[in-house]
Amino acid sequence: RTVYVNGEYVAERDARVSIFDRGFLLADGVYEVSSVLEGKLIDFPGHMGRLKRSAAELEMALPWDEKALLTIHRELIRRNALAEGMVYLQLTRGSAGDRDFGYPDTDTPPTLVLFTQAKSLVDSRSGSEGIRVVTQPDWRWARRDIKTVQLLYPAMAKMAAKAAGADDAWMVEDGMVTEGASNNAWMLTHDGTLVTRELSHAILPGITRAVVLEIAEALSLRVEERAFSVEEAQSAKECFVTSASSFVTPVIAIDDVSIGDGCPGEVARRLRAAYIEESR
Ligand code: PDD
Repeated sequence: RTVYVNGEYVAERDARVSIFDRGFLLADGVYEVSSVLEGKLIDFPGHMGRLKRSAAELEMALPWDEKALLTIHRELIRRNALAEGMVYLQLTRGSAGDRDFGYPDTDTPPTLVLFTQAKSLVDSRSGSEGIRVVTQPDWRWARRDIKTVQLLYPAMAKMAAKAAGADDAWMVEDGMVTEGASNNAWMLTHDGTLVTRELSHAILPGITRAVVLEIAEALSLRVEERAFSVEEAQSAKECFVTSASSFVTPVIAIDDVSIGDGCPGEVARRLRAAYIEESR
């Protein structure tokens, strides 16, 4: 694979980042995952808009504009002949050498790393068959709206889900679902209203979430942005998750309670098809 590190395209075995990099020592970094379908980027301006916001919230320099970042993404897709999969981008605060909690001087160059990862997105098994999730307490920090690389707790939650024989975890705080470990959570009520949690510091503002909200509106579906409980989701007509790497993926069970008839829901399937159609 050819990867990108600080202005250079290099073979992955030649890529180098300092051991003093704050991303490595302190998880002082932000990231984005953009999907690629038929060699083309999906929802790119949305992802770069969020990257800019994440960096700004952490007072982190981002000395690349959207055009420069698009060029790097496209160049990596070309060099790796990526037809379907993801481009991962990570920006960290760099380092002035030594370990220090305080931010280095603002002229310290940040570290920008990008790489591609091939993956079947359209014809995925979870997309067609749905996933089973288990709930986990949301023990992440309180600024989940910033897409930082502090992913240890989501990794633990996913491992706990696997250990329980499920595919993924839903995070719960005060009895209410915040979001999935790496996706936004949705449900459809029996009267046909789509529900997903409102934006706040509690969840990541998903780019796919925003696009699916637009699609739902275009399909004249009723939508409510509000928190919902685990019990409400378990007794809902349908549940699903959204993210760049999973598009719209049906959830067929929560903590071993089947959702609806235990099969992927009709509305989730329609939204998935519409999202893929619009992204092509
Ligand atoms: N995860 N919520 C969390 C906690 C996430 O990590 C993600 C994305 C989302 C969905 O956001 P978007 O629709 O913009 O992908 C929601 C990415 C895909 C990841 O970490 O791999």
